[in-house]
Amino acid sequence: MSAPYQVGLIGLGVMGRNFVLNMADHGFSVAGFDKDRLQVAAMREEARDRPVLAVESPEDLVRSLRRPRAVMLLVPAGHVVDAVIGELLGLLEPGDMIIDCGNSFFRDTGRREQELAEKGIHFLGVGISGGEEGARHGPSIMPGGRAEAYERIWPVFEAAAARVDGDPCVAYMGPGAAGHYVKMVHNGIEYAIMQLIAEAYDLMRSGLGLSAAQLHDVFDGWNRGTAASFLLEITAEIMAKVDEGTGKPLVNLIRDEARQLGTGMWASQDAMNLGVPVPVMDIAVAMRNLSALKGERLAAAGALDGRQQPFPGDREQFMARLEEAFYAATITTYAQGMAQLRSASGKYGFRLDLEAVARIWRGGCIIRAAFLEDIRQAYQRRPDLANILVDEGIGAKVMQRREPLKAAIIAAADMDIPAPALMVSLAYFDAYHSGWLPANLVQAQRDYFGAHKYERLDKEGVFHTQWA
Ligand code: 6PG
Repeated sequence: MSAPYQVGLIGLGVMGRNFVLNMADHGFSVAGFDKDRLQVAAMREEARDRPVLAVESPEDLVRSLRRPRAVMLLVPAGHVVDAVIGELLGLLEPGDMIIDCGNSFFRDTGRREQELAEKGIHFLGVGISGGEEGARHGPSIMPGGRAEAYERIWPVFEAAAARVDGDPCVAYMGPGAAGHYVKMVHNGIEYAIMQLIAEAYDLMRSGLGLSAAQLHDVFDGWNRGTAASFLLEITAEIMAKVDEGTGKPLVNLIRDEARQLGTGMWASQDAMNLGVPVPVMDIAVAMRNLSALKGERLAAAGALDGRQQPFPGDREQFMARLEEAFYAATITTYAQGMAQLRSASGKYGFRLDLEAVARIWRGGCIIRAAFLEDIRQAYQRRPDLANILVDEGIGAKVMQRREPLKAAIIAAADMDIPAPALMVSLAYFDAYHSGWLPANLVQAQRDYFGAHKYERLDKEGVFHTQWA
């Protein structure tokens, strides 16, 4: 344990070990610790002749690090993060830095940064996306916290991040919890796009009767078009996977109950707090919750007539429209996520550069897609864009696909197949570019029963009416 190591990492699960190997392959010496000795042993085994030290106590970890120390955490979000920080506090000294690389709730990150600042310890909250593969070969990295603290660690992140056209998929996001906030919204978009893909899958599987093998070809084809994305790529691969034991497509053997760790729900909840509409994210969370009510659904299926109608029209035409519909819906999803970031940036003082967010999401992360380059360019043209839908090029892309989106929704309703994310995508788009919404009536109703007052189109001021 002679040479002082540049970076420490606590949490040697698969993600942690892969990230250690990634950093080491880029020339950084890393000391890793996990309270599970098997993980420490696995790290030693995988490290081979790399500059990696795997230790069995936090004391050894801290002792092995170059001062001022930098310790990354890749442990489960929540109380485990606080417990590990508590343990480190007795070992670190002012000037050292803790970097939380997990999916922590952004308000926890803000609190931790303040608590640690009082003790002279720097704290960064860093969102990392890309799963095990990303951690090993290049994730998208969203760091937040004090800029001076980030200055010390950026070379490591820049070397380890994914690259697109030579650009590393990492950028300083902003102060406090900015990094974890951006990661949270990333996950909200992730949930929403997964739900849109699931609906398209349902329409083709239940509506058109396509087999998993045929669906592989469809999603693979979509992934070669304008909608190309990591999530479509893995969906195509999932469709092709055959279960060894049964010889059947594995996807058909998986229970239809989605689980969640909660990041998508947080994104949706905080959008509500901010008053930003993100209906595709909301419905994605709701549909995971609905899927989990398997028993209730089965009972209801028995009690109600669950007849599914045969597909009513031209299959070829429907398939072509569905691809367009899916693309339009994903655009409205990104629009909602970016609008949430814009609002949070102002409200929480994150000072986000939305072009940089789009840039670092182009590679490494779960929501990477060809369309992120369009978003990046839109913010390059107009950094203050209220919503990417008002960018001429992007708005036109959805407008051109409005009819296919409508047709897909009508077909879904005709076939009794729930497609709520596609439906709210259209409703959001139509409402967002509507100069008038029926909120005048809502205002009148509020004033009727609660004397909440209303504003008029023809006069300044606030008014109340004796309606009855
Ligand atoms: C990523 C993923 C990652 C994780 C999600 C899964 O960006 O690499 O989002 O963070 O797989 O937390 O979330 P759910 O369990 O809530 O679906």
